[in-house]
Amino acid sequence: MVQHLAVLELRNLSFSIAKDGEDIPLIDQATLTVPPGHFMAIVGPSGCGKSTLLKLIAGIHVESDGSLFWNGRDLSNEGDLEPAEIGYVPQFSIAYEQLTVEESVESVVRLRVKTRNRAEFHDLVDRVLEQTGLDPLRHRQVKVLSGGQKRRLSLAMELVTDPVLLLADEVTSGLDPKSENEIVKLMHGLSRKHRRIVVNVTHSLANLELYDSVLVLHEGRVVYHGQPRALDHYFSVEEVEEIYPRLAKRTAVEWQTSWEKHRPDYYDALLSAAKIAEQEQEADGGTASDEAETSGAAKTPGALAQFFALFFRRCRIFARDGGQLFLQIAILLGFPVLVILFALDGVGETRSLSDRLPSTLAEYQQEKEIVEHNLNLGGLVSGLVMFQVILLTLMGSNNAAREIAGERLIFEKEKFGGVRPLTYLSSKLAFLGMLVAIQSIWMAVFVQNICHIPTTQFWPQLVLLLLVNAAMTAVCLGISSMAKTADQASLLSIYLVGFQLPLSGAVLALPKVAGWITRPFISAYWSWAGIMNSLESSFRSAVDRVTETWLAPAWVCFAVLLAHVAGGLFIAYIGVKKSRWE
Ligand SMILES: Nc1ncnc2c1ncn2[C@@H]1O[C@H](COP(=O)(O)OP(=O)(O)OP(=O)(O)O)[C@@H](O)[C@H]1O
Ligand SMILES: [Mg+2]
Repeated sequence: MVQHLAVLELRNLSFSIAKDGEDIPLIDQATLTVPPGHFMAIVGPSGCGKSTLLKLIAGIHVESDGSLFWNGRDLSNEGDLEPAEIGYVPQFSIAYEQLTVEESVESVVRLRVKTRNRAEFHDLVDRVLEQTGLDPLRHRQVKVLSGGQKRRLSLAMELVTDPVLLLADEVTSGLDPKSENEIVKLMHGLSRKHRRIVVNVTHSLANLELYDSVLVLHEGRVVYHGQPRALDHYFSVEEVEEIYPRLAKRTAVEWQTSWEKHRPDYYDALLSAAKIAEQEQEADGGTASDEAETSGAAKTPGALAQFFALFFRRCRIFARDGGQLFLQIAILLGFPVLVILFALDGVGETRSLSDRLPSTLAEYQQEKEIVEHNLNLGGLVSGLVMFQVILLTLMGSNNAAREIAGERLIFEKEKFGGVRPLTYLSSKLAFLGMLVAIQSIWMAVFVQNICHIPTTQFWPQLVLLLLVNAAMTAVCLGISSMAKTADQASLLSIYLVGFQLPLSGAVLALPKVAGWITRPFISAYWSWAGIMNSLESSFRSAVDRVTETWLAPAWVCFAVLLAHVAGGLFIAYIGVKKSRWE
C-alpha cells in the first residue's frame, strides 16, 4: 500500500439537507484519496450529486459529517484553503458579457492577485491568455464568444492565482467533441504543472483515458474511483457508455458496499501509478515541489485596490451597456421635463386678502377668488414637489433593484475568490452615489429654474430630494441583496415605489392610525413634508389648507430619510454577506 502520497482526502464525507423535517443525504459517506498532480473526472447521471460534491470540496457547502484533509490538514477544523489556492469554475459563466476577454482576465487579476508593478500585472495576464489559447481572442467581447471559448475563459480566470486545486464543473458540457477534447487536454496539461490537482465534473464518458482517475457517483454515493482503463472491467461492460444503464440494475447502497470491498486493490494500482508519475516528473525537472510552493502563493490585494477594480469595472460595464445607458439618460432628462410641464411659467405668487371684511358682493367675489387662487397654488406646489419626489423614488428603484441580484452568482464566485463583501458594497455605493447625485441635483436645479418652487432656501429642498433618491436606492439595494432573482428584486422595488404616492398622504389624507403605521416607511412622505415645511409662509398656509396631512418638521424629515438610507445599506450588507449560490 502506498502511504503519505495523498494531497486531498475525503473521509466519510456526507452532506444532507433538511426537507420537511427530514434529513436527505445528497452526498453519503464519500471516501477518496486524490494524489498530487492528478487529473480526476467525476462522472455520474444527472442529479447524482456531482456539483454538490465539488462544492463540498471547494468549501462552498459545509459537510454534515466526515472530514476533508488537505496535505494532512483537517480543513473542517483548521480552516479552509486560502481563496488563491483554489480555482473553482462553476457551471455558469463568471465573466461579464460587456467586457472583452482581456478585460475579464485583467479584472480578476486586480481582484485576486497582488502584483508588484505594471509589468508583472501584464505578464500574468499574457501568460494566462496564452496558456488557455485565448491570446488571439483577447480583444473580443465575451458576449460574442462561442460556448467553448467562454468555458476556456472561465478556466483562464481561475488560473490567475495559480491554484493548487482546480475544480471545474461541466466545463465541457454542450460542446462539440472537438472543443470538448481541446478543453480536456488543456486541463490535463494544467494538472501536469505545479503538482496541481485538477478535478473535472462531467456527464460525458468520452475522453476518459486522459484522466488519471475517474470517480463514479451514483445517488450521492461513490461507487468507483480508479484508473479509467479499469472501468469496463469493474462494471463488467464492453463500452464505458454502458455504465449508466448498468448502475440502474443495483441499488446505490449495494454499489457502494461493493466498491468499499474492492477499493484497497484499485487504490494500490492508482496510487502506485501516481507515485511513479511524480518520480518521473521530479527526475525530469526536479522542481515539482518548489513550483508547488510558488503556486498558490498569490496574495489577495487590499480592500482599496479591490474597491477601485470593482468601481471602475462597474463604470465600464455601465458605459458599454447601450440599453441601460439610454434608459438612464432618458430618465435623467425626461423626468424633470415631465414635472415642469405643469408649471411652465412658474408657480406664481400668492395673493393677500384684504384686512377689511367684504362689504359688497363684488368685494366678496374678489376675496373668494383670492382664496381659490391661493388654494390652487397650494395644490400646485404640493403636487409639483410630490411629482418630483415620486419620480426620484422611481429613479432610485431603477438604479438599484437589479444591481446585486442581477450579478449575484458572479459576485458569490468573486467573494469565494477573496473579494470582501464590504468592499463590494462600497463600490456599489460609490457608483450608485454618483447616479443619485447627478439625478437629484439635475432634477432639483432644472425644476427650480423653471417652476420657482417657493421655498425660503434652496438647499433644504435640494438635500431632501437627494435624500429621497438615496433612501430608495439604498432600500432597493437592500432588496437586491436579499432577493433570490433579479426579477423578484425588480418587482418588489416597483411595488415599493407604487405604494409611495397613496401612502404618503399627499394626495388623500390617510386615516390617522394607518398614517402613523405606514408613514415611517414611506420615504416620499418625509421628503415631501420636509420641503412643504421649508416653503415661504404664505405658500405653507396655502398647502395646509389643501392637505389635511400632518407635516413633520424639516429636521425630522432629514433624520428619517437618513435612517432609511442607513437601514437600506444595513440590509444590503447583511444580504451581501449571506451565501447565495442557488
Ligand atoms: N439546495 C438544494 N436543495 C434541495 N435539493 C438540492 C439542493 N442542491 C442540490 N439538490 C439536489 O441534489 C441532487 C444533486 O444535485 P447536483 O446539482 O449535485 O447534481 P449533479 O450531479 O451536479 O447534476 P447535473 O449533472 O444535472 O448537474 C439533485 O437531486 C438536486 O435536485
Ligand atoms: Mg451539476
